[in-house]
Amino acid sequence: MPKDPATELIHHPYRPPAGFEAPQVAVHKASTIIFPNVAAVRSRDWRYKTGYTYGLHGTPTTFTLEERIATLEGGRHCQLVPSGLAAITLVDQALLSTGDEVLLPDNVYGPSREFARHELARWGITHRLYDPMDPASLEAAISAHTRLVWIEAPGSVTMEFPDLAGLVGVARHRGVTTALDNTWGAGIAFDGFASGVDIVMQALTKYPSGGGDVLMGSVTTRDDALHERIKLTHMRLGLGIAGNDAELVLRSLSSLPMRYRAQDAAARELAAWLAARPEVVRLLHPAFEGSPGHEHWRATCAQAAGLFSVLLDARFAPAQVDRFVDGLKLFRIGYSWAGPISLVVPYDLAAMRPGGPMRGHLVRFSIGFEEVDALRADLQQALIAAFGD
Ligand SMILES: Cc1ncc(COP(=O)(O)O)c(C=O)c1O
Repeated sequence: MPKDPATELIHHPYRPPAGFEAPQVAVHKASTIIFPNVAAVRSRDWRYKTGYTYGLHGTPTTFTLEERIATLEGGRHCQLVPSGLAAITLVDQALLSTGDEVLLPDNVYGPSREFARHELARWGITHRLYDPMDPASLEAAISAHTRLVWIEAPGSVTMEFPDLAGLVGVARHRGVTTALDNTWGAGIAFDGFASGVDIVMQALTKYPSGGGDVLMGSVTTRDDALHERIKLTHMRLGLGIAGNDAELVLRSLSSLPMRYRAQDAAARELAAWLAARPEVVRLLHPAFEGSPGHEHWRATCAQAAGLFSVLLDARFAPAQVDRFVDGLKLFRIGYSWAGPISLVVPYDLAAMRPGGPMRGHLVRFSIGFEEVDALRADLQQALIAAFGD
């Protein structure tokens, strides 16, 4: 045993040889970054990826993931945050001040609206909803106070695919910054920046993770000044991510295009089968004719996520719909899609979109990696048990 094991073990002189290279990205975990000398403390600027200053500001692992997500989205800069929702709220906090207004599509991801309603409101920031399927509705909603327009393509429950370029064109014309929630497209289905948006946000929790075991979000930009604004707010809020979480996303990222394609194909097979069932009055899947905004999907996208909803006939009792959902054995009841397990969630359409045009009982499906035949058989047995032959 050394004379002073504590000190000797902590300050052990061994350094592994330089030059180790492997396809897998090393996992660096640190709160403290060691500086070689005082000059390094003074010369390093935490805002740039030219050196390391503090764990919260980045490690080789998080820098690498940021660069890969920026490439995936077709952007120049990426900022990682601990969840998709944190990515949304980071953009809001970076761009909005007292007296400003943010516009949200009326099918927006619910917690984004809750943030506006409860947190932004406390800071004197207002929000207003617009109809994402009507660029004229956005035009009418923009005022002298509007600083930010959020866009989703498609809405992640009711699945309307908007005229992205039309919406962006309206906001641009009025000098308003646009942010796209690209969680559904995942950087695969379509090129978010090609539509002209300023910011592309993604819940990496979904497709990039793919395992259903990580929460993470990204905010990607092309513009240097916009990125710096987001980065400064990110630093002040202390929104770091863990090295192990970055590792999991890095590990899954290489299979993202394959997984996306496979889940898309499986979802389309099951969606087509469900659409032909007598219990289903409408299929909400942007790749299908008759789904809201299908023409915009066709003009914009090469692929689609493995996520879709159906409207079950309004003549069914809510208890029957619950029985159908409860009766599914392979589809598990849960929210966070794009993982290996197929999921199902019933939504209260009337409460979500009071006065909206859709009628019936909305049930959303997320298709995982199981065999399509097994999932189809599961749907069939649960439909028959709940609604009869
Ligand atoms: C469209 C969309 N945006 C953002 C989020 C938020 O992601 P997270 O669960 O990582 O906070 C979700 C999560 O369901 C989502 O569906």
